[in-house]
Amino acid sequence: MLDALQQTDPALYEIIVRETRRQEQGLELIASENFVSEAVLETVGSPLTNKYAEGLPGKRYYGGCEVVDQAERLAIERLTQLFGCETANVQPHSGASANLAVFFGVLDPKDTFVAMSLNDGGHLTHGSPVNVSGRIYNAVPYGVDPVTHRIDYDVVYKLLKEHKPKLLVAGASAYPRTIDFARLGAMASEMGVRFMTDIAHIAGLVAAGIHPSPVPHADFVTTTTHKTLRGPRGGAIMMRNDDAKLINSRVFPGLQGGPLMHVVAAKAVAFQEALQPEFNDYQRQVVSNAQALAEELLTRGYRLVSGGTDNHIVLIDVKGSKQLTGKQAEEALGRVEITVNKNMIPQDTESPFVTSGIRLGTPALTTRGMKEAEMRVVAELFDRTLCHPDNQQQLDRVREGVLSLAKAFPLYPQRLVS
Ligand SMILES: Cc1ncc(COP(=O)(O)O)c(C=O)c1O
Repeated sequence: MLDALQQTDPALYEIIVRETRRQEQGLELIASENFVSEAVLETVGSPLTNKYAEGLPGKRYYGGCEVVDQAERLAIERLTQLFGCETANVQPHSGASANLAVFFGVLDPKDTFVAMSLNDGGHLTHGSPVNVSGRIYNAVPYGVDPVTHRIDYDVVYKLLKEHKPKLLVAGASAYPRTIDFARLGAMASEMGVRFMTDIAHIAGLVAAGIHPSPVPHADFVTTTTHKTLRGPRGGAIMMRNDDAKLINSRVFPGLQGGPLMHVVAAKAVAFQEALQPEFNDYQRQVVSNAQALAEELLTRGYRLVSGGTDNHIVLIDVKGSKQLTGKQAEEALGRVEITVNKNMIPQDTESPFVTSGIRLGTPALTTRGMKEAEMRVVAELFDRTLCHPDNQQQLDRVREGVLSLAKAFPLYPQRLVS
C-alpha cells in the first residue's frame, strides 16, 4: 500500500505511516472523530479527485461530468433516504460551509438569529464573534440552565419574542443531552421564524433513530459527514424542495467553487453503509458505551456536566473533579496516548485556551469494536492518568495499558508498516 508515494515522496509517506500508527496505537476519545471504512478511504483516494464539476448533476459548467453526476445523484438519493428529507445538497466542503450557506440563503447582513452559545456547548459557526457568522449577522445566544445544564426552552421562547429573529438555530458540539427539536420547531413556526438544525455531532444517532429527528420540524438540517455518521470529512444540507434552488445557489456559486467529487462519492459510500442494519447496532453501542463510560467516571468521583449523557458525548468538569484545567488534563492524557480535547463547560471561568472541562466521545472506539467492559477500562486508564499527571512511572504503566487495549481492537491492520 502507498508504494508510489513511498517512491516519490518518502517524507510524506513517513508522515502517513506515523499518523496511521498513532491512530492504531492510541485511544481516540475526541467526540467529533471517527474511523472510516476501507471503502470510504479507497473512494477518497480515487481518480475522482481529478474532476471539475461546478454546478449540479445534469447542469454543470464543465464537460465530462456524466460519470461523476451519477456519484452525486447516488449521494443525494441515499442521504434523503437515510433521513427522510425531501432533498439535499452534498457539496459543502465542511460543516462550517453548510451552515454558512444556509445563513447566506436566509439572512441579510445585520439580520438577527438566535443560536446556542459557544460557551454552553454551541458551535463556533453559530454566531461566535470570532467567526464570520458572528461578524456579519447579529447573533443572540441562548445557553443552558446553570443547575441542570440542559437547554432552557422557556428562555429560547423569550428570546424569540424579544428579538424577533429571522432564524432559530439548534444543534451543538458539546451538549450531552437530547435536543427537543419538536419543541423548538413549534416555537419557530408559531413566530414565523425559519428553523435550522445543525446535527453535525448526532447525525449518526438521528439516522439510526436513536436521537429524535429534526427533519419533520426544521426548514434546514445541516450536518458534517465525518463524526457519528462515519463518512469522509465534509458537510451536507437537507431541506425542502421549495428551498433547494436558493440554498444550492448559496453553496455554488455563493460560497464554493468546484465540489470535491472524490469526497462527494465517498459520502455516497458512507450513506450506503449507514443504510445497513448494522449501522443502527453500531449507533446503539456508541450511546451504551458513552453511558458506561459516564457511569464509571461518576463512580470514580468525577463531576459530569448535566450528570450524565443521552448521546455519544461525556463532558467532564476536570477542574471541579481533579483541580486540573482542561489544558493540563488534555496534555497529561496525550502523554499516554489517550486523545481528548479540552472544552469549555457551562459557567466556565477559564479561557477557551485553558478551560475547565474535557469532552469525551465514544464513536471512534466503538468503531474499533469496543463495548461497555472496555469503556470501564478506558475510565480506569483515564482516572489513573489524571490522579498522577506528573508521575512518569505511573504514566508509563498507563501507556502500556492503552497500547494493549488498542492492540486488541485493530483498526487498519493492512495499512500498518512496522
Ligand atoms: C455542531 C457543529 N457544527 C459544525 C461544525 C463544523 O464542521 P467542520 O469542522 O466540518 O467545518 C462542527 C464541528 O465540530 C460542529 O460540531
